[in-house]
Amino acid sequence: MMGSSVGKLQTAVEEIVDEMRGMSERGTVASYIPELACVDTKYFGIAVIESDGNVIVGGDGDVPFSIQSISKVFTLTLALGKVGNRLWTRVGREPSGSPFNSIVQLEREQGIPRNPFINAGAIAVTDLILSGHQPREALGEILRFMQFLADDPTVTIDQEVAASEHRTGFRNAALANYMKSFGVLDNPVDFTLGVYFHHCAIAMSCRQLAMAGRFLAQNGSNPSTGLAVVQPERARRINALMLTCGHYDGSGEFAYRVGLPGKSGVGGGILAVAPGKASIAVWSPGLDTTGNSRLGQIALEKLAKKMGWSIFGA
Ligand code: DON
Repeated sequence: MMGSSVGKLQTAVEEIVDEMRGMSERGTVASYIPELACVDTKYFGIAVIESDGNVIVGGDGDVPFSIQSISKVFTLTLALGKVGNRLWTRVGREPSGSPFNSIVQLEREQGIPRNPFINAGAIAVTDLILSGHQPREALGEILRFMQFLADDPTVTIDQEVAASEHRTGFRNAALANYMKSFGVLDNPVDFTLGVYFHHCAIAMSCRQLAMAGRFLAQNGSNPSTGLAVVQPERARRINALMLTCGHYDGSGEFAYRVGLPGKSGVGGGILAVAPGKASIAVWSPGLDTTGNSRLGQIALEKLAKKMGWSIFGA
């Protein structure tokens, strides 16, 4: 019985890798971070880790890429562990319906970001992790958390990408300064942005990322240790935020097409969660106009359909 489900997944992944290889419309790489503009759109990687521990990796699933906004899922998890529900006095929980770096919305809402996944929200979350620490310590904590969840001490930060974004992140600086003027950030803006740019620049492969996402598919527990990373209720709530806000103004479309909680990054990665079933990571650097991986979304749509994994039913 189990063998047949493993076989089905293996076949599904192989078919998807083949189809993605042949796709000619591959989207456009993010160019506002110069270091990301050099990445080739030829790549496609996928990794699926089922709840029983079965791991299927396909295409470029072992090639590291810049996880960018996917890191926001993990900083949110860390910050909730640190300050609990107090976090929600700094950041909202509603989908933005706006681009991930929108300034207009922040002004209308008195410096309180709509949710923890748009840039302003994630910067506010990073600020909470930073409080009481030096930037280096806060960054070390985030990186060690990723290494622990991925069960891989080799996960590292791509310093070139971090420096590239630090040099050109004027819009994030505007968002951070604006929030600071409302007292939403506690730390010096430069410190908070430094930690933010560096955690966005963590490099991981699909395999490592899918490993790191397992706790979200397993009611908050880490299968490597059997211990809780977060309580089941918190895992459920993080998944809800990923479903409603994980793809910015493309979140409705992602829910419609794929039907799974997911978080995208401008590096072209997407982490998706099939609760109780699997943690999935896909990567293809070409993006659509909402900044989400074009092939990544297509691949997840196909996988969810083939496996019957949409949370909304067949
Ligand atoms: O702050 C930024 O703009 C990037 N470090 C992350 C943005 C991002 O990944 C949006 N994702 N689709």
